[in-house]
This record gives sequence, C-alpha cells and structure tokens, in this order.
Amino acid sequence: SLARVPLSRLESQTINLSQFPSKVQSLRDRLKRPLTYSEKVLYSHLDDSFDEPVERGASQLKLRPLRIACQDATAQMALIQFMSAGMESAAVPTTVHCDHLIVSRDGEKEDLPRALNTHREVYEFMETVCQKYNIGFWKPGAGIIHQIVLENYAFPGGMMIGTDSHTPNAGGLGMVAIGVGGADAVDVMAGLPLELQAPKVLGVRLTGKLSGWTSPKDIINAVAGLVSVKGGTGSIIEYFGDGAKSLSATGMATVCNMGAETGATTSIFPYAPQMVDYLRSNHRHDMAAAIERIAPELQADLGAEYDRVIEIDLSTLEPRINGPFTPDLSTPLAQFGDAVKKNKWPEDLKAGLIGSCTNSSFEDMGRAASLAQQALDAGLKPVMPLLISPGSLQTRETLNDAGILPVFEKLGAVMLPNACGPCCGSWDRVDMPKGTSNSIITSYNRNFSGRLDSNPQTNIFLASPEIVIAKVFSTDLDFDPTVDALKTPSGEEFRFQHPSGKTLPKNGYLDSDTAYKAPPIDRSGVEVKILESSERLQRLAPFEPWNGEDFNDCLILIKTKGKCTTDHITPAGPWFRYRGHLENISNNTLIGAINAENDKVNTVRNHISQKDGDVPGTARDYKAHGQPWVVIADHNYGEGSSREHAALQPRYLGGKAIIAKSFARIHESNLKKQGMLALTFADEADYDRIRSPDQISLMGLANLEPGKPLRMSVNGEWETNLNHTFTLEQIEYFKAGSALNMMAKQ
Ligand code: F3S
Repeated sequence: SLARVPLSRLESQTINLSQFPSKVQSLRDRLKRPLTYSEKVLYSHLDDSFDEPVERGASQLKLRPLRIACQDATAQMALIQFMSAGMESAAVPTTVHCDHLIVSRDGEKEDLPRALNTHREVYEFMETVCQKYNIGFWKPGAGIIHQIVLENYAFPGGMMIGTDSHTPNAGGLGMVAIGVGGADAVDVMAGLPLELQAPKVLGVRLTGKLSGWTSPKDIINAVAGLVSVKGGTGSIIEYFGDGAKSLSATGMATVCNMGAETGATTSIFPYAPQMVDYLRSNHRHDMAAAIERIAPELQADLGAEYDRVIEIDLSTLEPRINGPFTPDLSTPLAQFGDAVKKNKWPEDLKAGLIGSCTNSSFEDMGRAASLAQQALDAGLKPVMPLLISPGSLQTRETLNDAGILPVFEKLGAVMLPNACGPCCGSWDRVDMPKGTSNSIITSYNRNFSGRLDSNPQTNIFLASPEIVIAKVFSTDLDFDPTVDALKTPSGEEFRFQHPSGKTLPKNGYLDSDTAYKAPPIDRSGVEVKILESSERLQRLAPFEPWNGEDFNDCLILIKTKGKCTTDHITPAGPWFRYRGHLENISNNTLIGAINAENDKVNTVRNHISQKDGDVPGTARDYKAHGQPWVVIADHNYGEGSSREHAALQPRYLGGKAIIAKSFARIHESNLKKQGMLALTFADEADYDRIRSPDQISLMGLANLEPGKPLRMSVNGEWETNLNHTFTLEQIEYFKAGSALNMMAKQ
C-alpha cells in the first residue's frame, strides 16, 4: 500500500508520499509547462494561501518546509526567541546539533571533554529547551549537522531548512534543503511560512563516468570554477544526465554541499537508485520503499527548461585543486605545479585535513584509506600533521568496524571529534605561529582568509580526500601523486596506484543513535536551564507592542555613511560568545558604522547630554530616558549575512525605525519581523538634507498601509514622504511588537 511512512526512525511524524505525483500534476496544470525536478519539489511545498503565478527569479514564494535543523552556534538565539513566543512545541520537526562549538587541538579524547566543560551551560540550555519544546537533540560528539541529516532525515522529494550555509548537503538525497538565518528558522518553528524568492534553475548536465583518481569533489571544484563564488546567487543548481545517475548518494551530497560556495540557494540531484540503497543502508526501509514507488516523478519533466545549462563530462574530468583564499580558483592537478610557481604560493605543504560535512562518507574515507595502506606497505609515513574530522559517530563507528579508521591510526593521524572543528575556525593550531605564510590542503569546503586557523597568511587549498591523503607524504606543494614518485626508506621509487573503495558498508551502517536525545512524551515538568548570572545566555522578554501613537521627536542615533553591512551593525569575532545574550551582544551595536557627521566609527553626539559617546552607550542612554531614536542610512543597509542580531539589537535598545536610501532584502525583512519600521527615502536627496542633530517625527502610523508612503517631519520645519514595503501581515507584526508576538497572540 502507499500508506504513510515515518519521516525518520527517531520521530513519530509520518508523511504520505503517494500524494507527490498528483501534487506535481496539479502544479504542471497550473503552470502549463514541464517542470524541472527542483521546481517539483519546491513548489509542492507551497503554502495553501499562495495562489499567485510563479515566475522564476521574481515571485515571492511562501513555503512550508517539513523540517528544520539548527547548529549550536546559530540555534542559541533562535531558541531563545522561540521561547519568547510562548508556544508549547515547535510547529514542524526540528533538531539541534552540537557541532560548531567544539574546539579541535589534541584529538577527540581531550577535545570533547574540554568542550563539554567550556560550553556546559550552553549545552544544558539547548538540551533542556529541546526537551521542553519537542525538539530532537544531538549531543556534542554525535556529529556534524549535515551528515546527521543525511543519515537520518533527508529523503527525495522533501524540503527542509537549516540554520547553516551547507544545509544543501541533503540535495544528495534529492531534497530541497536551504540554508537560512535564525530569524527564518524561528518563523517556521512558530508556524509561519518561509518566504523565498522563486529561484532560477541552473542545470548541470553530467555525462560519462568518474574513474581512477577523480571523485565527486572534483565535480564541484570544477563547477565552482565555472560558476564563480557569486554566480549561483538566486539559483538552484540542478544536476541531471547519465553522469549524475552514476554517482553514490554521498558523492552527490558532497557536490550539493559545496554548491554553497557559488552562492546558490541550494543544489539538488534527481532520483537515482543509489539514494534508496543509502536509505536502506541507514535502516530506513519504509522510506526507501515509498520512494521507489514514486521514483518516475522524482526527476525533471521531458522538455523542462533551465535558465542556463553547464556541461561536464565526467570521463574526461581531472582531479582539481581549488584555492587559495577563494573556492572558485580551480586548477587541474596536472597544471597545479606550474600555478604554484607562477603565483608564488608557499611551496612547503604544512598540514593535511580530511573529513567535515563535505567529505567524510564511507566511500571518501575508504578510498583515502586505500591510498594510505599503499603508502604504509611501502614503509612511508606522513611528513606533516594529518587531521581527520569524521562526520558522525555512526559513520565513525562503521568505519572503525570496517577496518578503515585503523589505517589512519597507523599513519599517526590525529582523530578529531565528530564535529566541525577546524572547518569553522575552531582549530587551536599549534604547529604554525599566526602571521606565518604557509600552505595547507583539505577536503573541507571553505578557504577564505583565516577560515580554518585564524591565520590570514595560511593558504588553504581544497581537494578530494584522496588527493589530500596522497599529498601528506611530500612537503612539495606541487607533488602530483598521480604521476610523481616518492622515495621509500629503502631508497626505492614508490608510485601510488589510483584509489579504490566501496560506496556503502557491506552490512549497512552500525546502528548507533546513542548520541541522540529524544524529547520526552510528557514535557510539562521540563525546566529550561538558564543561570541568572550567565553572561552567555539570557531569556528574552517579548518586545512591547506598538502603543497606537505616532513616533514623535525621535533623535538620530547615527547617520551612517556608505556601506553598513550586518558586520558593521553587529560585528562577529569575539562577540560570537554572546550570541545567546541579547543584553551583552548589544554592546557591539553599530560600532563598525561610519558616522556621516564626523567620519569616525563608534563616536556619536549624545543629544541629551550634548557629549560625544560610543554608539551602543548612547542608544542605552536614550532608552533609559525613554527617548525614541532612529538611524539614517545610505544604500543597501544591512547587506551581508542574514544575522538576525542586526535587527534584534537596535530594537532591543529602543530604536523605532531605520530610514535608508535602500535595504538589503533579508535584513529589511528581519527588521520588520522584530517590529521595527524599515523605511526608504522617496527622495534620496533628503538623506543629504537631514543632519544628525535633527529630530524626526513619523506620522500617520495608524494608517500604515501597503504601498502607501508615510509622512516624516524634520524638526517640525519640513516634511517629506518615506516609502516602505510592508505587507498587511507585516503591518500586524509591527502592531503586535514582532512577528513572534503576533504568532503567540494567535
Ligand atoms: Fe561544520 Fe564546516 Fe560543515 S563548519 S557544518 S563542517 S561546512
């Protein structure tokens, strides 16, 4: 029968996948055209209230994802906000993954207990919130968010969001999986739809078959080179063709994972039998059987159109090395030696790292181990530190059982915790003083300056795990393991044979969910743990609703000049520690913005005391005096990340409106969600007319309507129009004090 199947083995929710083909048929009827695979999956998750035409690259979609996954760094504020909505449980299945906070240095045995100690209160907080609000909790050491999602939750035809850029990893199992900011995740947890501009579809036709040294990493390294770090923005990358059907599910996940490096909304592969093999290997038999039944619909329609198509022949694709400093600088291995000399990259290779959410599958590790074994047999050992980040406890135990990890241990590799570690900069690197120029090679996915070891002088090269392993036996950065020889201790020449390995473990993955904590059935007695004295976590009181009156005589906290990104509004670095504490992190509010009055950062005139002060201190003083304030800003205010703190902090410190020449779209929407007015000058010349000592009144708020400008009075001397993009729903957010307040009211 086509009955409902469990969404995962760890939850009680089920899904009726047999409805997928009829949903797709009605979409086809509605759009009157053949659909790409990603369109089928995405549009079949449209909210019922969305009845407008769908135009790729233009329509604002409202979507109902089936799942949310949060990593620990972004989850803290998301959970704190969700708690303030006063709901009993998350509206859709949600999980939290403790993977980013664990610092790597000595290996799992030391690093994991140290992290448990350092972050105890944050972990306890997240664990108890999860227990209280019916959220699955993956403990520290369980593994990396995307690997756990692939093993337990992803499935073809599904849609999910995650509070991490590499959420698209689940596209390897045919899922539309989109990385979002915390604010979007909180909305969906609270039962609101996800808003997303209908992406364009960039097709990648894969022909031929991988062989020898080439692996899925080389596909995405090539795509990144062709598309560039910005070229995927606003698009889904959809793979198809015979070559796509030849890859393993985990190989497809690698390709989708690193699609994030092109800025793409997500990446996805259509159905292939390897996907159900993978589901079965993970003991998800019901899901596998249900997917097989709807398989014919899990691919693009004949004649479906892509906005652009790229072709890659896997039979002629060579291994590639990308970097340094940008993932789209892609060099074929055979030309890499010349590139090293030409670009004067540091010629001594200093470390190799494999694993991460991108490349730690059974297949990746098995193929890498086949090379390691060849070297061991020849009496060779790595000539630099080799670090291994397994993706999950389950895969780690399975690899151990299959005799693969012991090979790396014989090499003397450092086995790191099953966590992000060096990949997210949580690497306490001891072998290289900061500021020293050096080269390292890794199978991770990002290589921006300072990403792994906080050393901007480290040149990070990205390659497949196979190439990384083979290269740790020579300090010459230009050593090409596919052709060059090494000298064994007995003086003989040794050359690697190409790697080999199985895609899946013979008897399936070991069934280890010991690192998972399910929420209890009776959640009424669960207390969320936050210490009153905590400097990292703070409960959030709901923001005050609008009092029905105009905002009169607001002071201007700062008139910013030029670029004001989310990094200027709420800088990262040391402030990350306070991500769960709005009071403390608010001490960085707008400290990076340039004051148009004096061209200085973090120095503004306090118009109550008539003295100069820092921006957050001045905002606090205004708040203490009950004095409303606004920010005047230039073009594209809030560009950069989707960091919701950039909207939360000004709101928390008593800001009423940001009045800009223009906004970055995500930040504008985040401001509205927090109950702030996001307004733009109808006449940009008004930006120049306004000076910091002026007083601003925003009039007619009771008649705020979509498409109708607001009036602004400056010092009661002159008036002008301000535009806005508030929808009826967003006006309700403003009135309620925030989107969450509105949801709580409902
Ligand atoms: Fe973690 Fe790096 Fe992946 S930070 S989620 S392992 S991209």
